[in-house]
Amino acid sequence: MSTPAFGLSKTKLSAESLAEFACDVRAGLRKPQKELHSKYLYDELGSALFEAITHLPEYGLTRADERLLCAHAAEIADLAGAPVSVIELGSGMGRKTRSILSALRPSNRELRYFPIDVSAEALARCERELADVADVHPRRQSYLDGLAGAAAERRPGEALLLLFLGSTIGNFERPCALEFLRDLRRWLKAGDALLVGADLVKDLGRMLVAYDDPTGVTAGFNLNLLGRINRELGANFELRNFEHLACWSERERRIEMHLRARSDQRVFIAACGLEVRFRAGETIWTESSHKFVPAEMFAMAAESGFQVEAQWVDQEWPFVESYWTAR
Ligand code: SAH
Ligand code: AVI
Repeated sequence: MSTPAFGLSKTKLSAESLAEFACDVRAGLRKPQKELHSKYLYDELGSALFEAITHLPEYGLTRADERLLCAHAAEIADLAGAPVSVIELGSGMGRKTRSILSALRPSNRELRYFPIDVSAEALARCERELADVADVHPRRQSYLDGLAGAAAERRPGEALLLLFLGSTIGNFERPCALEFLRDLRRWLKAGDALLVGADLVKDLGRMLVAYDDPTGVTAGFNLNLLGRINRELGANFELRNFEHLACWSERERRIEMHLRARSDQRVFIAACGLEVRFRAGETIWTESSHKFVPAEMFAMAAESGFQVEAQWVDQEWPFVESYWTAR
């Protein structure tokens, strides 16, 4: 079997990443409000389930992002200019990125695209899908490690266009999002660009059903995290003893995903050397999806060393695409 370009076997975590996973799970499940980091949702099955979520009629976010990117790809390419390399944080399968790469290609004959993602399966698919529009250099790394590596590949005179699509910025706590944007800014030069997509606050019913679809795909996506811990860390979670929960926090303006224990129970996680006790009704917090208002993008840009050059909002599913340059 051939080795993928990013140097890891397709599905398995390296020993180092597995130890980190075990360590994070141990720390998260010992907190008073038990939690698991959302980046662990994306193993092979998790990435496939996320892809299915993007096709759900109730989850309009990805289609809104895609509509905006298609409609404004030419303007984005004009703003980015040439020569430019594209780096995408949390690319997933990169489906939406095609329109941007295609618009950039005519003025960048040797366009390079660096998708960065922790999911090997998403990256492999991304490379296959986009190889006809760019020279694809996948990096299976966390955001900032990947960015450091990709930015080091910058050619003399070349600008960088950083993509952070799909409202993944919303998966950070608000103060962490700002800190993260400042970290991104440190890897960029003045004039480099960041295109960031963010889901906007909308009708509560629409937001809730987007994260608790009647088909149960989002529930499966969430529960798979426990399945992943069973498979990779030798745990004995009984998935049927947990249920998916999505709720809105008005104070934080975010949807929270939790896994709620249906009964009192104990779970053993071999790789963590940990037995965890759950009371009926107790939850594990697995993800936050913060929602934004358009003006917030200007404040976030200003506070992290960027300037908003252009911003577009989808009318069908309120979502904003914001194009920033590094000051
Ligand atoms: N950008 C795509 C995918 C969003 S899903 C879209 O808009 O549809 C979020 C993606 O980010 C997943 O593919 C996941 O594997 C990746 N991801 C999550 N946390 C990450 C991290 N800390 N570092 C790198 N990739 C991460
Ligand atoms: C990747 N991220 C922006 C998605 C979101 O909407 O927060 C992940 C997701 N979680 C549940 N459904 C989709």
